Amino acid sequence: MLETFSSPGDVVLDPYMGGGTTIVEAMAAGREAIGCDLNSLAVFVARAKTQPISTRDAVEIRTWASTVIPGLNYRIKSDRIAEAICADRARNMHLPSARPLKKFLALALLSLEELSSEEARLFARCVLLNVSQWALNGKKTSVSLASFRERVTQCAQEMLKASISFQAAVEEQHGGRYLPRLIHDSAANLQFHSPFKSGRKADLVVTSPPYPGVHMLYHRWQVDGRRETPAPYWIADCLDGKGEAFYTFGSRKDPDSEQYFSQSLATLRAIRSVMKKGAVMAQMIAFSRPETQLKRYLRNMDEAGFEELRRPTGRAIRSWRSVPGRSWHANLKGHTHSAREVALLHRAV
Ligand SMILES: C[S@@+](CC[C@H](N)C(=O)[O-])C[C@H]1O[C@@H](n2cnc3c(N)ncnc32)[C@H](O)[C@@H]1O
Repeated sequence: MLETFSSPGDVVLDPYMGGGTTIVEAMAAGREAIGCDLNSLAVFVARAKTQPISTRDAVEIRTWASTVIPGLNYRIKSDRIAEAICADRARNMHLPSARPLKKFLALALLSLEELSSEEARLFARCVLLNVSQWALNGKKTSVSLASFRERVTQCAQEMLKASISFQAAVEEQHGGRYLPRLIHDSAANLQFHSPFKSGRKADLVVTSPPYPGVHMLYHRWQVDGRRETPAPYWIADCLDGKGEAFYTFGSRKDPDSEQYFSQSLATLRAIRSVMKKGAVMAQMIAFSRPETQLKRYLRNMDEAGFEELRRPTGRAIRSWRSVPGRSWHANLKGHTHSAREVALLHRAV
């Protein structure tokens, strides 16, 4: 996608950035990368994935993960542990399968103070977020503290390895240190942020928006039989306080997805306004009712100033695939429409 529709030095934008995959790929391919998401957690993860880690930080993180975490004393009693647990954001972490991890996580978060730089603390916090998601979210059986400790050691090593080779690719492509621009706001406000507010335009947009009518929890983990917890915000030290509708263009209970389509249109117009004429927007999307919603979505694209790319025969260039990595409870529903995603290609007109 990047190679086909952009060249080195071009501006690549992901307006609904999520986990930051587009940003990472764009940086490694020598593009200027701009990401936007209104979820503070998405911005946290993208920052942690893309920041350079110094050799000294890497040594400290390795020691933290392989010595400090395995050596944390779970039996210790201290007022600081209670202080480290944010009551609001640790909701439902008292449930049986999460309770031991709640105290351990408080200890682990306090241990971040042993790291000397902001970058190392951010990286290690992201390791804890990653391992906690594995240990808590949608798990049918609880994870022991021993497995959690082991997984932190292993995950830190893997993430460091990936980060070091990623930074080598970025330095080679950009001729030195390079950081992406990460915007924490709604895509509907893109034009008010640098570099767009000074007239710069994107050469390519690669993204995946929220899906209409499809239940996706971007801001909660499900613990102990699907009870929702905002713990990822506690672990990442990010602000939350918004309900599901905020992150998904409106409520999924809205029968015709009216809110979805009006909010989606507002963001699509803003995205179009920061793109060069002729630039391509590539997006992956799924629908709960494709027979009506795909048409409606394509109408939004049209109204926002896009036209779909077509083959010489006039057929639209689209490709469908099964959604990879669905959660076990989504899979219980079997092969529903939202288990299929489609890649759409449009040009800004
Ligand atoms: C389908 S996810 C993106 C998935 C992403 N492609 C990935 O690989 O992780 C959609 C993202 O859009 C974000 N989002 C929802 N409404 C938004 C808005 N108005 N502006 C910007 N981002 C928004 C959500 O917070 C979520 O992170």
